[in-house]
Amino acid sequence: MPELLSRWRQSELFHCFNLLYMSIIIANWKMKLGLHESHDLADSLRNFKADDKEIVICPSFASLSNVGKILKQGKIKLGAQDCFWESKGAYTGEVSPQELKEAGCEFVILGHSERRKFFNETDEVIHRKVKAALSAGLVPVICVGETFEQRQQGATDYILIKQVAGALEGISADFRQRIIIAYEPVWVIGTGQAIMPEQAELAHEVINQTLIDLFPSQSIRKIFSIIYGGSIDSENIFSFTSLPIIDGVLVGAASLNAKDFIELINNA
Ligand code: PGA
Repeated sequence: MPELLSRWRQSELFHCFNLLYMSIIIANWKMKLGLHESHDLADSLRNFKADDKEIVICPSFASLSNVGKILKQGKIKLGAQDCFWESKGAYTGEVSPQELKEAGCEFVILGHSERRKFFNETDEVIHRKVKAALSAGLVPVICVGETFEQRQQGATDYILIKQVAGALEGISADFRQRIIIAYEPVWVIGTGQAIMPEQAELAHEVINQTLIDLFPSQSIRKIFSIIYGGSIDSENIFSFTSLPIIDGVLVGAASLNAKDFIELINNA
């Protein structure tokens, strides 16, 4: 029985089913919780089940193992907020994708705008991290999005194409892999005011077309999910997740309290 289950999980059909029918909700706890707070929040969520949604929690590196142990007892999956591009070596302060895998992670957020801004992460750096994450068997959640100035200048499409291509060009993708692109307009992150769902829809179309151009021989929807992030809460989530081109959401502030987060998931 376990062998049958594991074969089903590795099959193309399971993969497609997952991508096409399950909305994904990824919580990014950033550096907003201490070890005890992370432990308590994970503990309050451990028994939560959402049959038609895939839920992922990305705590800080320091609380990964502990939160992972708690979540293992339930259905919520574990992710990290970043990783390095090498698997081992003299890289003080870095964490390898292999180590994340060992800690129980299935997902890793890469290229978040806060990393691009505060740690000068370039498309080249993000590209290396995506490659490393994929070869370690992690699902990269690649964040892309324009700043307010770039939107004002009419450069949104250009930025999205540049960041998506920068992260993925030259990477071989097939149905055994899974890659998530998170469209996060930088100017609404953490403001409590999301963009209009129609604006997100347009950006998702640009990303989708970029993926088609980058991988002309692949069936894009079998490999990629495109999700939205930026001030998602329990009130606005459905206006995003109800759009067919939006496969899920990346949530920051509204994932830091068990009651709010559960309400948000139930409303998706
Ligand atoms: P927010 O953060 O939901 O607090 O806007 C989202 C993110 O930065 O991923």
